[in-house]
Amino acid sequence: MPKKMGSKEHIEAIKKYVVQTYEPLPIVYSRGEGVWIWDPEGKRYMEMLSCYSTMGLGHPAHPEVLRAFVRQAKKVGISSGAFYNEQLGPFAKELAEFCGMKKVLPMNTGAEAVERAIKIARKWAYTVKGVPKDKAEIITCENNFHGRTVTVISFSSSPKYKEYFGPLTPGFVIIPFGDLAALEKAINKNTAAFLVEPIQGEGGVVVPPEGYLRKAKELCQKHNVLFIADEVQTGLGRCGKRFAYEYEDAKPDILILGKFLGGGLAKVSAAVCSEKTADVLKYPEDGSTFSAQPESLAAARVALKILVRDKLAEHAFEVGNYFMKRLRDIKNPLIKEVRGRGLLVAVEFRPEAGGARQFTERLMEEGIACKETHQHVIRFAPPLIITKEEIDWALERIERVLAKC
Ligand SMILES: Cc1ncc(COP(=O)(O)O)c(C=O)c1O
Repeated sequence: MPKKMGSKEHIEAIKKYVVQTYEPLPIVYSRGEGVWIWDPEGKRYMEMLSCYSTMGLGHPAHPEVLRAFVRQAKKVGISSGAFYNEQLGPFAKELAEFCGMKKVLPMNTGAEAVERAIKIARKWAYTVKGVPKDKAEIITCENNFHGRTVTVISFSSSPKYKEYFGPLTPGFVIIPFGDLAALEKAINKNTAAFLVEPIQGEGGVVVPPEGYLRKAKELCQKHNVLFIADEVQTGLGRCGKRFAYEYEDAKPDILILGKFLGGGLAKVSAAVCSEKTADVLKYPEDGSTFSAQPESLAAARVALKILVRDKLAEHAFEVGNYFMKRLRDIKNPLIKEVRGRGLLVAVEFRPEAGGARQFTERLMEEGIACKETHQHVIRFAPPLIITKEEIDWALERIERVLAKC
């Protein structure tokens, strides 16, 4: 390999040596500062995806997060579940209090936290609700995205995520998103839980009809079913509130978090449990080598502190509304809809536009790094620290590209 690799060499090496499960735009992240990133040739882009909500504090890791991470990493390594460490207690207390919940099951990735929520729900169904062994059902929604493990793809409605990976895990029922009648119809005596994203991020930033989450939660309560919110992408300020469920006051029995939780540096996720679900799992029913890595938890604690101190959710609400309003003002009949909440925003094109990828490619030429999700949608999810001036910078370019499509 050449000593100093440029973008071209990096992309060639990645295509040659990395299993190709993604279809990235040809931008190589080399260094970053706030909402800006540079490729190895020094071309600058505005970060408009934030690693699907992970880099909410911008690039590289926020200095306070980095400091806490390094300070802790220099002190001691991983204790594993065989011993205790000094970060786990404070992390769990602070996160539980932040969420207004009882206990925290820490994990590493979003999909793992989803798996743990499923385990908790199933065990709750057998030991508390009285569902017969191996009969528990979990209701999920069409167009969902909860990760890539075999169990999680088992309830994906997208054939391309699961076609060749069977036999799949049974016990899931898929209903249309936003459809309360379908939810009520799907609930039966064996239903353990309803698992839902308050806004479907990967599915194209789909915001459910008003009142949906609140009424879904009421239905769950009425039928003794757990209400589980997957806020891996929507949570922790992204949607203009601490959690997207707060728009409808639909507090879940299990709240699943990830991405931003690691402060853009560490891999931290969690299944955060209410009183009802906090003590369902017991030794030795779960565990993970890396799930209580002290430096990662130290980073997460600082990320939460910054989120509150710097009022990032409130900021996302304000600049997000401004961003969406300006996007809605773009007059182009090929734009079907602009939607979202806070700084999770989508522009959906009509099929006649010929797909969203061409626009993300043109935006890339203009210095904006964003990505299509599904065929006809561009998702914009800049770091929560983005200023109004930076949004204006982006809008000037987005308007230029979208107005002439
Ligand atoms: C709502 C939701 N849940 C779960 C996941 C999976 O997270 P991870 O990729 O960390 O496993 C994602 C990832 O995009 C997500 O958006």
